[in-house]
Amino acid sequence: MGELLYYNEEEEWNRALLLYNAVLKEICTKLEILNNEFKLAHQYNPIEHITSRIKSTQSIARKIRHKKKELTLENILRYINDVAGVRIICSFTSDIYRIADAIAKQNDVTVIKIKDYIANPKPNGYTSYHMIVSIPIFLSNDVIDTKVEIQIRTIAMDFWASLEHKIYYKFEGKAPQGIQDELRECANIISFLDQKMLSINESVQHFQDDYYHNHPIDADISVATADESKNGIVSIPDSIKSLFSTIEGE
Ligand code: GTP
Ligand code: MG
Repeated sequence: MGELLYYNEEEEWNRALLLYNAVLKEICTKLEILNNEFKLAHQYNPIEHITSRIKSTQSIARKIRHKKKELTLENILRYINDVAGVRIICSFTSDIYRIADAIAKQNDVTVIKIKDYIANPKPNGYTSYHMIVSIPIFLSNDVIDTKVEIQIRTIAMDFWASLEHKIYYKFEGKAPQGIQDELRECANIISFLDQKMLSINESVQHFQDDYYHNHPIDADISVATADESKNGIVSIPDSIKSLFSTIEGE
């Protein structure tokens, strides 16, 4: 980015990059913890995989131009919400909302903006759950709330979005009507597929619940009760919670 910004802003840009890299680490750690918690309680991973990226300098410059703003550090910080971005690919639609809720309710996370393109798909058929959140980054003498874009979607939604993205660029945003119609049709099929997969998974869960009901798990092995594990919650009994942070017998 140095060569694109004024010379005197290069050092500031490097400081901004430090924050954006830090916020990616923070959010990815939070997601990994949630995924591990879910894994302990469920028989599947709610998060298939996570990718993260810092927006390329060319894309930042293009977006700033598109927004008809001057390419300055201040404008980048102010107008580009996705310099730091993570994409979470989930197995099922229900997992998307679980993950989104679990992130949103963390004390140090501020939700700035939500776009639910699953409840309200875009006219082209695009579906995904988008959040812009900020997380405090602790430096030696400062704390800076730093924003990060989170996109959450299923494997099927991701499949659709990556093809649509390619087509969009190939035709510079003006794909022939026939292709646009076919893409929209695929989006409908994908939404149907996601619903089907979810209902199959729910049936499997019910079979499992019945199994556990008839073969109670050894309480020592599982901290979660059967009911809690259905919600993907790992409960730590109140009686031992404080022991994680205290020292005894000194
Ligand atoms: P921008 O990031 O400037 O587009 O801001 P916005 O307010 O339009 O954000 P929005 O939440 O709509 O989109 C953010 C990101 O989601 C984009 O940068 C893309 O990565 C993705 N996205 C949004 N719409 C589409 C779409 O129609 N197709 C595909 N493939 N991706 C999309
Ligand atoms: Mg957009």
